[in-house]
Amino acid sequence: MKVTVVGAGAVGASCAEYIAIKNFASEVVVLDIKEGFAEGKAMDLMQTASLNGFDTKITGITNDYSKTAGSDVAIITSGIPRKPGMTREELIGINAGIVKTVSSSLLEHSPNVILIVVSNPMDTMTYLVHKTTGLPKNRIIGMGGALDSARFKYRLAEALEAPISDVDGMVIGGHSDTGMVPLTAHATRNSIKVSEFLSEERLAQVSEDTKVGGATLTKLLGTSAWYAPGAAVSSMVQAIACDQKKMFPCSAFLEGEYGLNDICIGVPVLLGKNGIEKIVKIELAEAEKAKMQESAEGVRKTNSLLTL
Ligand SMILES: NC(=O)c1ccc[n+]([C@@H]2O[C@H](COP(=O)([O-])OP(=O)(O)OC[C@H]3O[C@@H](n4cnc5c(N)ncnc54)[C@H](O)[C@@H]3O)[C@@H](O)[C@H]2O)c1
Repeated sequence: MKVTVVGAGAVGASCAEYIAIKNFASEVVVLDIKEGFAEGKAMDLMQTASLNGFDTKITGITNDYSKTAGSDVAIITSGIPRKPGMTREELIGINAGIVKTVSSSLLEHSPNVILIVVSNPMDTMTYLVHKTTGLPKNRIIGMGGALDSARFKYRLAEALEAPISDVDGMVIGGHSDTGMVPLTAHATRNSIKVSEFLSEERLAQVSEDTKVGGATLTKLLGTSAWYAPGAAVSSMVQAIACDQKKMFPCSAFLEGEYGLNDICIGVPVLLGKNGIEKIVKIELAEAEKAKMQESAEGVRKTNSLLTL
């Protein structure tokens, strides 16, 4: 499998690193607009190959899309990240132009590629790719929920004082501080509902900490996070490469599912060799349904800022 990562910054390099370490792809091409930057990152990463025991070939290129030809999967991380105090939505002006150009350049050389959109505001950028490329909806996947769910599990394990491997949970909805919908009623520890162990107040706190997970890190780091985003993307790419039919919450184009139309937003999907193999419909509690609708309103508000 050939994977292209556009953007060799913090998230892009982390994606390339985790994909290589997991050793399921034959080739990873990293592309950046900044002269020599992707080449440098790729060389540095390749010098970890003998130490980390992977055979994936990583190459870096400056803005030459012909080198991405024949990619099976491409990950779009190009664009600016937020600074402390900023929302993801504030990035739309610059990132929309970048995502539009990058997706069309990728498709010119890899007409069968599956696109994973990471750049923020992610749900709106995923919608933009839908509207401007005309690709079938199974081949456009937004990454947000996989990361938010990992953050949810981290917070749940912390509250439960349990190892993370004991914990399961999912976050759906928009990938924003106010739009995320952590499914606390469905979260479990070894198949037992976490509500058996945690008070309503503690669970509400876990939810809040999850929703501001990205902002908390941005404040600490001065820019947005990269390790967990890179790991989340690599798991999604692995599910596609190995046709795992594995379930992740991803931003997908909806046509009636969850009562929503003409929007990309986080819902559970199965990822396999065709990208989104299926949108999984689960029964939500009334409160969760209401939160999902509210979240969709927020995403639509950001979508309305796009000039399509
Ligand atoms: N969806 C998520 O869960 C999630 C998580 C973390 C970050 N993000 C988003 O991912 C994006 C990247 O974050 P980062 O921390 O890696 O930023 P970064 O600044 O470290 O890297 C971005 C890279 O994109 C490159 N770039 C800019 N325009 C380009 C173009 N036209 N073509 C190719 N490369 C171009 C830049 O040169 C830079 O190297 C941001 O928009 C951030 O908000 C999303």
